[in-house]
Amino acid sequence: MRALILNGPNLKRLDLREKGIYGDFDYAALEKFVTNAGQDLGIETEIRQTDDEAELIGWLHEAADKKLPVIINPAAFTHYSYAIRDAVVMLKAPVIEVHLSNPLSREEFRHTSVVSGVVNGTISGFGLNSYRLALIAMKNLLADLAN
Ligand code: DQA
Repeated sequence: MRALILNGPNLKRLDLREKGIYGDFDYAALEKFVTNAGQDLGIETEIRQTDDEAELIGWLHEAADKKLPVIINPAAFTHYSYAIRDAVVMLKAPVIEVHLSNPLSREEFRHTSVVSGVVNGTISGFGLNSYRLALIAMKNLLADLAN
């Protein structure tokens, strides 16, 4: 079982941004946490981050072409990128949206996700555990599809 974990803009600078909101760890710790959580669940994870919308769209196209499951934290693109949404719609395998923080408890512009309507589900507000919970949900989705 393999999944792509895609992270959007500014997430590589977690050690330098709003620790009270996102938690006190850096991006390398996020990668390690997700890799370990995947291993515990028997899911091979490939974790990527970009600040570039076009690159993220390219990775979504790749996931669609390879029929790969995706866990995506679109970061700020969540709130306005119809291009990311349109690329997510083309995915063939399950896709889960994750957020470290709970955007609904933050500024009003974060209350809209243009992505939520086209994913299997969204997990927000649990810090790094959002990714672990998403991996658990993904494992269940893939098991259901295999039956
Ligand atoms: C985020 C929430 C977004 O609103 C924000 O722009 C981010 C990170 C999260 O993981 O909590 O960059 O996606």
